[in-house]
Amino acid sequence: MSRRPPARRYGDNGGGGGIFTSSKSRSSYLHIGLVMLGGLMLIVYLYSGSGEFSGNKEVVSRVEGDFSCTVEVERAIPILKKAYGDSMLKVLHVGPDSCSVVSRLLKEEETEAWGVEPYDIEEADRNCKRLVRKGIVRVADVKFPLPYRPKSFSVVIASDALDYLSPRYLNKTLPDLARISADGVIIFTGFPGQRKAKVSEVSKFGRAAKLRSSTWWVRYFLQINLEENEAAVKKFEQASIKRSYRPNCQIFHLKSFH
Ligand SMILES: *[C@@H]1O[C@H](CO)[C@@H](O)[C@H](O)[C@H]1NC(C)=O
Repeated sequence: MSRRPPARRYGDNGGGGGIFTSSKSRSSYLHIGLVMLGGLMLIVYLYSGSGEFSGNKEVVSRVEGDFSCTVEVERAIPILKKAYGDSMLKVLHVGPDSCSVVSRLLKEEETEAWGVEPYDIEEADRNCKRLVRKGIVRVADVKFPLPYRPKSFSVVIASDALDYLSPRYLNKTLPDLARISADGVIIFTGFPGQRKAKVSEVSKFGRAAKLRSSTWWVRYFLQINLEENEAAVKKFEQASIKRSYRPNCQIFHLKSFH
């Protein structure tokens, strides 16, 4: 309703065509109103739908949790150590739940680890708050250059962090990971169609994860001149076979910029 006055003003300015203009715009407001009502009903429907199935919610989220590539990083640590050797002694992890990955890495002998947590950590536990206070884990937006000097780490591991970035931001973030690492960047990312973003996840990240195919990623790496770390790929495969390790995520091994 508050939109009416401008419509009338257009009509006044238009002189003879005034009536036509204003009725036309009024009908387009009606149209917009109907679309909005439709959207509202859809939202109500979706919410009531999720309420209906709330009994299954726990099961669903547990299954989704299993497919979190951050969890996969922790599973893969023994394999990564075999593949990367001493390079796994100075690691930066980038991605959600970085505190848990960093804590896990710090349990390894002689290993130094840091983390970049891309999102708010209001609900962090005491251990995580301690890591943040000590500056071991930082909360930082991965869309922007990370506050580290070139080759600050031997390897950088990113999990579940890049799926939320469009190529415009990936174009900046990925080369930045190659810049701050000396011996490689390891990317853990979901398989397309593997999991759906939960409602809470969407609001946390601002957009739903876009899980891209391995073809997409390989083509993209070429486009931005990031090379595959063939030596690491080979060693990682060998170690995986030896330990019957089968990843639940796509894992890419890239060379750092030198
Ligand atoms: C990302 O970078 C590549 C290579 O420089 C370029 O071809 C492409 O257009 C860029 N994409 C976007 C969305 O900026």
